[in-house]
Amino acid sequence: MRKTVIAGNWKMHKTVDEARELAKALVAGIQADLAGQALPDVVLCPTFVCLPEVLNTVKGSAVQVGAQNMDYRDSGAFTGEIAAPMLTAIHVSHVIIGHSERRQYFAETNHTVNLKVKNALKHGLTPIMCVGETLGERDENLTDNIIKHQVTAGLAEISEAEVAKLVVAYEPVWAIGTGKNCEVVEANRVCKLIRTTINELYPGDKGPGHVADSIPVLYGGSVKASTIEEQMAQTDIDGALVGGAALKAEEFLPIIRGGAKRCKASVGAVNASK
Ligand code: PGA
Repeated sequence: MRKTVIAGNWKMHKTVDEARELAKALVAGIQADLAGQALPDVVLCPTFVCLPEVLNTVKGSAVQVGAQNMDYRDSGAFTGEIAAPMLTAIHVSHVIIGHSERRQYFAETNHTVNLKVKNALKHGLTPIMCVGETLGERDENLTDNIIKHQVTAGLAEISEAEVAKLVVAYEPVWAIGTGKNCEVVEANRVCKLIRTTINELYPGDKGPGHVADSIPVLYGGSVKASTIEEQMAQTDIDGALVGGAALKAEEFLPIIRGGAKRCKASVGAVNASK
């Protein structure tokens, strides 16, 4: 059974005070709405400067905290960068790697994504590795090739045992922050393609419980309260990476509830098969 993951990417928004208030409202909302229920992994990803405050605010709850980026080296003369050991030292559990905004505006490549994923895993951080095609690539029918290439290059030289700790997010670049949702059947198809690609890279014994079957694949790109139920009802979308709608508790809480519904459905399916 795969985990359901609902991650909020706060991007370059929120001061420390605003971040604390949002985290507080989310913890209270989860407690009020979902106490005693199976919860998705809820991961809040604020800016670096807000990480300690958000970690402190969610302490004692099930909410986890992730960074939005990291360097691939452990330390050194790299002005402005943050290293994995600095994140783990304050108990950050996740890190978004290779978000399309990093690829587009900060020159990240599949190679640096690979180095970062490797370094995150080395330090026990869960990487949320983002892949996705641009509108131009989709229009030229290159989506599948781009996705396969990004997954394959991003996971180069990573062992099967290590890759099992990964989360992947399919984020079509043209759907991010645009209000344009990728049609749900298509999003599910690409998420499945990601799993098939990982399965080809790590064939193992191909039995049930194989590594590719256990890796959560999330969808991201204009996810909202009004889209989450349908997205969570798909076979291969295991959660969501949410930008704009993660910035207000009243918009993010229904998305978390959508994730909880998927958890409930999979618990039900497991019980029914016993
Ligand atoms: P969006 O962003 O939900 O605002 O489209 C998603 C993301 O960039 O992760």
